[in-house]
Amino acid sequence: MTPRDHSGMDVANKTILVTGANRGIGRALVNEALRRGATRVFAGSRGQPGIADDRVTPLTLDVTNVSQIQRAVETVEGLDTLDILINNAGVAIYDDLGNLDILEQHIHVNFLGMLRVTQAFVPLLKRSHGAIVNNLSLAALASLPMIPAYSISKAAALNMTQSLRALLARDGVSVHGVVLGPVDTDMNRGLEIPKASPESAAAGIFDGLARGEEEIFPDPASASVAESWRAGTAKALERQFMAFVPETAGYTTSFTVDQSAEEVFDAINNVRGWWSGDVQGRTDTLGAEFTYRYKDVHDTTQRITALVPGKRVVWHVVDSHINFVKDRTEWNGTDIVFEIDRKRDKTELRFTHQGLVPEVECFDACSNAWGSYINGSLRKLITTGAGRPNPKE
Ligand SMILES: NC(=O)c1ccc[n+]([C@@H]2O[C@H](COP(=O)([O-])OP(=O)(O)OC[C@H]3O[C@@H](n4cnc5c(N)ncnc54)[C@H](OP(=O)(O)O)[C@@H]3O)[C@@H](O)[C@H]2O)c1
Repeated sequence: MTPRDHSGMDVANKTILVTGANRGIGRALVNEALRRGATRVFAGSRGQPGIADDRVTPLTLDVTNVSQIQRAVETVEGLDTLDILINNAGVAIYDDLGNLDILEQHIHVNFLGMLRVTQAFVPLLKRSHGAIVNNLSLAALASLPMIPAYSISKAAALNMTQSLRALLARDGVSVHGVVLGPVDTDMNRGLEIPKASPESAAAGIFDGLARGEEEIFPDPASASVAESWRAGTAKALERQFMAFVPETAGYTTSFTVDQSAEEVFDAINNVRGWWSGDVQGRTDTLGAEFTYRYKDVHDTTQRITALVPGKRVVWHVVDSHINFVKDRTEWNGTDIVFEIDRKRDKTELRFTHQGLVPEVECFDACSNAWGSYINGSLRKLITTGAGRPNPKE
């Protein structure tokens, strides 16, 4: 599976859950989400969130309590869908690694709590092709030796964020890590250093999410390392390791022709020549997006995420509206992959729509359509120079 190329998520008209919502950054996130037009905010807290707004639904949620997590899932599922989960709850206690109880406490809340809440809500997020936002810390990148146990828990949470990002990409769920610098909350009360306000940090988090950033650096201290992080070794290795995630299953078909690999490659990229005359945008440039529309039945936007001459073309579906199925966005986050292989004096084209699996409602209709476009129209375009695309409306 190609790693998801995030298209970003705006908070407006979305349903959000924030843990640790009663104070500090969590509370600021709730207020900012409401200000930006969220439909509903589930405010998870151990006590009362104390936020009076019709769009806020309080949830009793200690992130270390398995039965409370389960009840929270049932409440959210009973009332709404969930688009964005913000794992914000956290503890920070000064220590010197001399007391393992303190380390365990950090691991239970900041790491295992985050993972438990995430796993519980993943089924809902898969349905909405939603986003997970994990509040981490600069201490995840390098230890802050006056809070080493906290640093360890945040480093573990960063590592977990990377794994979940790779594992959930195939389901169209994006996973973001927030690398926070010092913010003026109870957590670092008494520490006399420059601190960002919780309000500005909350705004920075939603801005980064809207831009689709994998790591979000929402305050001046963290922003100063953003560029080096994104261009650095850890990020490069993450991308390299991501490629080991097994390919996602999906509808697949193949054929062999006498033409060269280059001719097959050129024909694939001539999308108007075989899929539809009603394609808008460039179809032969890496990073470009194009739309395919068929009446009011099918309207999808593809981004070209791989374009290797004579070998491979990948389109990532960033948006879809398919009007004959219940979940009209079923194609979102899926990948359409063309692999070209030269075998003796022939060329094989293997087509896979990763994510178009039998569990998906449009599987039968969509795979039938692909079958005739690929084995009929595209093959004809390669072998005769004329395909059979849908005519322009
Ligand atoms: N402030 C900073 O400088 C800074 C810097 C980097 C990262 N961060 C991260 O940002 C997040 C928010 O921090 P903050 O500054 O807003 O801290 P805060 O003001 O101390 O608030 C922490 C929040 O987490 C909640 N919480 C703690 N343990 C919990 C548990 N077991 N279950 C559910 N909720 C729990 C607290 O609830 P109660 O009120 O019930 O205790 C509170 O709502 C944390 O993950 C923190 O590590 C903060």
